Amino acid sequence: MAEQVQRQRIFSGIQPTGNLTLGNYIGALRNFNLLQDEYDCLYSIVDLHALTVRQDPTELRKACLRTMALFLASGLDPEKNIIYFQSQVSAHAELGWVLDNFTYMGEMSRMTQFKDKAAKHADNINCGLFTYPVLMASDILLYQTNLVPIGADQKQHLEICRDIAERFNAIYGDVFTIPEGYFPKVGARVMSLQEPTRKMSKSDPEDTYIAILDKPEIIRKKLRRAITDSENSVVYDPENKPGVANLMSIMSALTGRSMDDISNEYSGQGYGKFKDAVADSVIAALEPIQREYERISADKAYLQQVMDSGRERAGAIAHRTMLKVRKKLGIAPWKL
Ligand code: TYM
Repeated sequence: MAEQVQRQRIFSGIQPTGNLTLGNYIGALRNFNLLQDEYDCLYSIVDLHALTVRQDPTELRKACLRTMALFLASGLDPEKNIIYFQSQVSAHAELGWVLDNFTYMGEMSRMTQFKDKAAKHADNINCGLFTYPVLMASDILLYQTNLVPIGADQKQHLEICRDIAERFNAIYGDVFTIPEGYFPKVGARVMSLQEPTRKMSKSDPEDTYIAILDKPEIIRKKLRRAITDSENSVVYDPENKPGVANLMSIMSALTGRSMDDISNEYSGQGYGKFKDAVADSVIAALEPIQREYERISADKAYLQQVMDSGRERAGAIAHRTMLKVRKKLGIAPWKL
């Protein structure tokens, strides 16, 4: 019998905070779907990460469930993929503590996301926010991950994850697989509709982003109001025309059309027509997900089953890595 080839492993996570956006979809969720047939995938709702900001417990639970339902509605098959809540596998926090001891203050204070978030939440710059990338490294390393599908904003975190893993391996031997990033070719950084030099973020005001669950008329309205420029030319020039470039990227990512093709069709016709066409492509991508979401989120028994089975399957893999780490450090359970 032919030897079975071990498939490469994928891990990624999304925070259950606010409404998931079109940025989350194009940058991450859509790639999760494209990868599920060829890889062994784990996709986590990273609720421990959400605790760096004060959360209302009831709202957090709802947001976690919403995020899981969105994973499923976007097409992730829970048989093929392990879908689970990070907080339900305690090894994440455990490895996080271990890796804290292999990470330097200087490294963490250089993280741009830490600097941004510290500026945003100046009254609550807690240690969790500071060591957030270490917990993220633990998520990835626990599963001996080969590939991490993420948007461009997470690149720096992935790099520090690799540094921490290499540092640990240099001392203890080959404990962790060194992961690579997997970024979308177009749309790795979807920008804000109102300030197209900043990334689209679910923690910004509503009119700056499109939520995956926004109804078609809202999507159209938000895109019509998106900031462009006064030139009326649909040309891809991110530096000088960031608003138009962002809309072109969104359309290109969702339809597979090239920038030239989009430019040829819409240049010289006024931005109104172009924005409506972008809205059509966004609505066409999101409407089927929204329909599935309605159906799945009403099926509590199904969601419960996905959650329970995800926890069991993820927990078993995480446990194996954790035992390996514990043995290396001299903190595995032992008999005298
Ligand atoms: P989060 O929850 O902010 O975002 C989830 C995913 O969406 C991507 N993304 C974007 N992509 C393109 N354009 C945008 N405007 C945009 N906004 C968000 C993010 O890059 C991400 O892939 N720290 C992570 C969650 C996390 C994680 C992990 C990811 C925790 N542990 C382990 C990968 C592996 C975060 O806050 O993502």
